[in-house]
Amino acid sequence: MSENEVSENGLAYVDLHSHLLPGVDDGCATLEESVAVARRAVELGCRAMVCTPHVGTDRYAANTPEEIERAVERLRDYLREAGVRLEILASGEFRLSERSIEWFETHGVPTLGRSNVVLIDTWAQAWEQEYDDAIEWLFEQGYQPLLAHPERMLIATEQWSGLIERLEQRGVWLQGNFKSFAQIDAARVQERAWQLLSANRYTVLASDTHAFQSIAPRAEGLATIRQRLDSPNVERLVLTGPDRILRGEALNA
Ligand SMILES: [Fe+2]
Repeated sequence: MSENEVSENGLAYVDLHSHLLPGVDDGCATLEESVAVARRAVELGCRAMVCTPHVGTDRYAANTPEEIERAVERLRDYLREAGVRLEILASGEFRLSERSIEWFETHGVPTLGRSNVVLIDTWAQAWEQEYDDAIEWLFEQGYQPLLAHPERMLIATEQWSGLIERLEQRGVWLQGNFKSFAQIDAARVQERAWQLLSANRYTVLASDTHAFQSIAPRAEGLATIRQRLDSPNVERLVLTGPDRILRGEALNA
C-alpha cells in the first residue's frame, strides 16, 4: 500500500510487534499463513511490520538474530512474489529470565528498526530480581526497554500496579496490544488496558498478531480504540510513534 492509498478502515499503522514468521514460534505455522496474514494486515492499513518471534527462551533457542534475519529475507521474497506490499523487518520479543544478560552477550540485543528500542516480555506470575538486573544492563548499554503488553501480564493485581509504575519511573516504555481493547478479551485485561491508555501511559500500541485467526480480535480492538480515543492520539500510538522508532528518531521531535 502506498502512502496515498486508503485501507478498508481508513487507517494506517506501523506494527512493532508480530509473530508473522512461519514455523519459528507460536505464531504463523506455514508460509501460506504468513502470506495470508501479511495480505490481511495490508488490507487493514498496515504499512510496515516488525517480525518479533519469541527469543531468549529455551523453547525457542533456535531463534537467534541471524536465523530471524534469514527467515525475514525469505519471507520478504515470498511476499514480493505474492504481490503483498508489506515492508517487514527483523527483531525479536525477548523473554526475561535469570539468564537474560548472558543471552544478550552471546547473541546481541534485538532492536526495532534503526532504534535502540528492545521489546521485552514476561509471563511469570512473580517479578524476579534478575528481570530488574536485565533492564538495568540494557539501560547501561544504551538500550531502551519496551515492555510488551503489560496489561496481559500474569502478575497478581495487588502487585501489578506498583510494578508497572516502578518500571515506568525507571524509564521502561509500555506497549499495549490491540486485542486487549476488544470486547472478547478478559475483563481484567481490558480494564488494565483502558486504564493505561486513558492515563496516556503507553508509548505505542501494536498488534502482536499470531495465527491468521488472531487478526479479527486485533482489528476489533483497534477499531474500538479509534472510536474512544481522539485521532491525533491514535495516530501517534499506532503510526507516527512506531514509525519514528523504526527510523531511530526521538518520539518528541
Ligand atoms: Fe508477542
